[in-house]
Amino acid sequence: MVPDAVDVSPALLTPARLRELEIRNRIWLAPMCQYMVEEQDGIPTDWHLVHLGARAAGGFGLIVTEATAVSPEGRISPQDTGLWNHAQTTAWRRITGFCQDQGARIAVQLAHAGRKASTWPALPRFRGRRGTVPEFAAGWRSVGPTSDPFPGLDAPDALSRADIAGVVEDFVAATRRAEEAGFDAVELHFAHGYLVHEFLSPLVNTRTDDYGGHGPGRRRLALEIAAAVREQWPAERPVIVRLSATDWIDGGWDIEQSVELARELEERGIDALHVSTGGAVIADIAVGPDYQVGFARTLREAVTMPVAAVGLITEPAGAQAVLERGDADFVALGRAALREPGWPQRAAHELGVRDGALYPGAYRRGSW
Ligand SMILES: Cc1cc2nc3c(=O)[nH]c(=O)nc-3n(C[C@H](O)[C@H](O)[C@H](O)COP(=O)(O)O)c2cc1C
Repeated sequence: MVPDAVDVSPALLTPARLRELEIRNRIWLAPMCQYMVEEQDGIPTDWHLVHLGARAAGGFGLIVTEATAVSPEGRISPQDTGLWNHAQTTAWRRITGFCQDQGARIAVQLAHAGRKASTWPALPRFRGRRGTVPEFAAGWRSVGPTSDPFPGLDAPDALSRADIAGVVEDFVAATRRAEEAGFDAVELHFAHGYLVHEFLSPLVNTRTDDYGGHGPGRRRLALEIAAAVREQWPAERPVIVRLSATDWIDGGWDIEQSVELARELEERGIDALHVSTGGAVIADIAVGPDYQVGFARTLREAVTMPVAAVGLITEPAGAQAVLERGDADFVALGRAALREPGWPQRAAHELGVRDGALYPGAYRRGSW
């Protein structure tokens, strides 16, 4: 049953503003690695233009790129995108311009994969290879808070204090390039058991210096990156942080620690949170519809900045309900957006909005 046309914009399709950035609706494309940089040089390709561009043309408000590494050794796989040199910056420029021409905004997810770097992508063309890509096959040695490995992967090199300062510098340099590349926003990837989450989690970070141990020590790298990136990024554009709100395991990173971190991030000028979970250690995660939304709500109640919920939000009515209940200010879609680039256009139709605003002119005749 499709409702009659409505006059009042449903929450999902109401514009929002982060700093000076106007976003046409509340629907984000979740960051999703494509592992499609065949040349292994970090330069986004035609695939990335078409993948992100199709979803910009499909009506998403904010496109978040896949995890884009701030340094070669920060890639999850050799096939990841990066933002550590000029050629990558130039290639991204074409993609940001196209997405913006469709009325979308675009954020780059800046990432360092830490001890989960240099892995085989789980794609059919890699024929079931798993674990660490060896150096003879274009892999590299990974780094982490300590030399303890993630289960099934090679042991990383523990970062020295000087190395840590270098990582912060890499994030700042990538932020400078993100501006040159025309991005509207930066999203810092502090989730899913990659480098910054590895420092946050007491199950992974067993360092005894001032980047480890007690809570403030474990949060230090996250806060240093956030503050340094915020200072580098233009004042009128937002910086978003993606967090894992819990490790899903007793004694691990949890929602209380996430609340503490969120408040400190807010004090440092971070503009929005994107709330995911898990990834630092192997854990039993009860996956189901909206399974992470409760964490978004708890964080939303603890801070004043807006919050995005993600995780098995698949249907327009359900996404609208997340916003109406006040669980979150934005919803992000991952897998549903892989199968349906025009999901926001269908959402508009199902929520009774028939103004065609989310269609490029050339597609209007195909409106729902
Ligand atoms: C193919 C694929 C690649 C992903 N890559 C990333 C990534 O680069 N960065 C990230 O933060 N999350 C990544 N994720 C997680 C998604 O952003 C999202 O949080 C997750 O899929 C849950 O949302 P969904 O149920 O709408 O798919 C990826 C997920 C998928 C399916």
